[in-house]
Amino acid sequence: MATLRLQHKRILLIVSGGIAAYKSLELIRLLRKSGAWVTCVLTKGGAEFVTPLSLQALSETKVYTELFSLTDESEMGHIQLSRTADLIVVAPASADILAKMASGMASDLASTVLLATDKPVLVAPAMNVRMWEHPATQANTATLVSRGVAVVGPDEGPMACNEFGFGRLAEPPVIVAAIEALLLGKRPLAGRHVLVTSGPTHEPIDPVRYIANRSSGRQGHAIAGALAALGARVTLVSGPVEIPTPAGVDLRPVETAAEMLVACAAALPADVAVFAAAVADWRTELATLKLKKVPGGAPPELKLTTNPDILATISQGTPRPRLVVGFAAETNDLVANAQAKRARKGCDWIVANNVGEGSHVMGGLRNEVHLVTADGVETWPELAKTEVAARLAQRIAEALT
Ligand code: C5P
Repeated sequence: MATLRLQHKRILLIVSGGIAAYKSLELIRLLRKSGAWVTCVLTKGGAEFVTPLSLQALSETKVYTELFSLTDESEMGHIQLSRTADLIVVAPASADILAKMASGMASDLASTVLLATDKPVLVAPAMNVRMWEHPATQANTATLVSRGVAVVGPDEGPMACNEFGFGRLAEPPVIVAAIEALLLGKRPLAGRHVLVTSGPTHEPIDPVRYIANRSSGRQGHAIAGALAALGARVTLVSGPVEIPTPAGVDLRPVETAAEMLVACAAALPADVAVFAAAVADWRTELATLKLKKVPGGAPPELKLTTNPDILATISQGTPRPRLVVGFAAETNDLVANAQAKRARKGCDWIVANNVGEGSHVMGGLRNEVHLVTADGVETWPELAKTEVAARLAQRIAEALT
C-alpha cells in the first residue's frame, strides 16, 4: 500500500501551456495516491494540451480556468483559491508564466492567483531549450528564486521540438519529492553550507591552447542543485562548462586547478564538501606568446608540473568540513582504487564511477556508481545523474543529522 505522505495536504496545481502539460496528469495521480487534495487551475495555453475534463477526472474536483467567471467566482473567488492551498505548484511552468510571475502581472486566473497568494510556490519549468537559456527567462527565474519561489528542473534531454538540452519537465516523481520536501519540512540541510566542485579545469599551455578533459560538469552541477533543494546554502566552484547553473546556487567560476583551490579555500568554512570536479593533475609552464610551429623543427616539449590536490588539501586542512566526499573516476579495479584513494586523500566518502571504454559516463547523462564509506561499499543501480545527485544529497542529509 502506498504511504500517504501527503495526506490532507492541499495543493493548487497550475497547469500552463506546453507539450509537457500531459505529464501533469501523472503528477495529479501520484499526488492523489500520496493522499493529497489537488485543485487545478488550467491556463488558456495549458488547455491547448490537456482538457479540463481530464484534470477534473483525476483530481476529482472542479477545475478553474477563468478569472472573470460568475460561477467560479461565486463558488470560490480567486483570492480564496490562492489562500486555501498549502502549496501552489506550477507544472509545467512555461516561459510566459515565469515572466508574468517575475513582473507581477495579473492578466489571467493563474497569474492573479500567483500574485495574490501568501503560500509557498514551487515551479517546474518546461520549454524549448533556447527559451530556457534566454537571458530573460534566466533573469526571471533568478528573480523568483530570490523571492523564495522553489524550482525543480528542468531536466536535460531530447525535446518534442527535436532539439536537445535543458527544458524538459522534471519527472513527476521528482516533482512529488520536491513537494514533499517543501510541505513536510524536509529541508534537512537548511542552515548548512556545502561546497561543491564541478567540471573540468583548463590548464593553459600558451594564450590559445590548454590541457583539459571531457568532464561536462553534469554530475557536480546536479549535486549542487540537489543539495540546494534540501535547503543547503551551496557554493559551486566550477571549471568551464556549457550547462546552466542550478537555481539557488552561488557559482564561483574558475579556470585552473590553482584557481579552484583558492576559490575552495575562500569558501570555507563549510559543513560538507563534495569534490566532483575532474581536476587536471598536471599543468605546464604558461608561455606568454603562442608557441610557433617551426617548419621542419622539433615539436615543443611540455614540461608538466603536478597540480595541487584540492580534495587532499581540504580533507587534511583546517577548518575541515565535517563530511568530505571525493570522486574516483577509474577505468580498472574501481572499488579497490576508490578504497585506497579514500585512505590516501583523507576524505570520508568516495563516489566511484567507471569511466572505462563504452561507459559514456564522462559527458553523458547517466551514471552507475559505488559509494565507498568507512562502513563498506554500496553499489547503486545505473541512474540518471540527477537521480544519483538526489540520492547522494539525501545520504549527506542523513549523515549530518
Ligand atoms: O586522484 P584523483 O584525481 O583520481 O582523485 C579524484 C578526486 O580528487 C575527485 O574528487 C577530484 O575532484 C579530486 N581532485 C582534486 N584535486 C586534484 C585532483 C583530484 O580535488 N588536483
